[in-house]
Amino acid sequence: MPVLTIDGPSGVGKGTVARIVAQKQNWYLLDSGAIYRAFALAVDARGVEIADEEALEKIAKTLDLEFKTKSGKGGNELVNVYLDGKDVSKILRTEKTGEMASKIASIGVVRAALLKRQKDFDKSPGLVADGRDMGTTVFPDAPFKVYLTASADERANRRLKQLQAQGSKGIILQILTKVKARDKRDSSRKHSPLKPAKDALIIDTTELSIDEVIAQVVALIEA
Ligand code: C5P
Repeated sequence: MPVLTIDGPSGVGKGTVARIVAQKQNWYLLDSGAIYRAFALAVDARGVEIADEEALEKIAKTLDLEFKTKSGKGGNELVNVYLDGKDVSKILRTEKTGEMASKIASIGVVRAALLKRQKDFDKSPGLVADGRDMGTTVFPDAPFKVYLTASADERANRRLKQLQAQGSKGIILQILTKVKARDKRDSSRKHSPLKPAKDALIIDTTELSIDEVIAQVVALIEA
């Protein structure tokens, strides 16, 4: 099946681009960050220590996680995420959950245990997969690979606007510090660090609108 991988650092706009391209192509959508975030919530709820790798592996392997959209596909719809049968969509998106996910995502046994769950998204007629290691580890044979970047300042700005659109507040310097810390952790970890696949098209989105980025991604698929 055709797979388009979209990797890149936090706040770069991967999720938005992935959703819109999936809708245009009528392909499935994998938000792999949501899996790591849900896993982090499950670990937190069970009070398991990060050092207890055996317990972490067990939770990862038995994670009761469901993504639901009205049509059953990804597309441009809002996806609700259910963990242990409970809708966790809102708490999943918080900065705190992202932080917990980033810490726990550096653990090798966790990544290995969550791998198959991600590969299973590869279904007909196609898939757009968004994350950090989609092109390098999860779908290394994907025919279409994109790596999105943008300056840390621009990404912090985008995050701030996102927070404001949700009716929340944020302080730009604090956001910038967190964005940088998360990138550093994600790119310096031993297992599947954040980096472009060798055959990925790298798009610096700092000066680009969402529509311009989408046009480049769609052009890659249609070329
Ligand atoms: O993309 P998102 O911000 O939802 O991801 C949350 C965290 O999950 C990231 O900071 C990263 O540490 C981890 N993650 C990962 N591999 C992926 C997707 C997300 O390690 N493929």
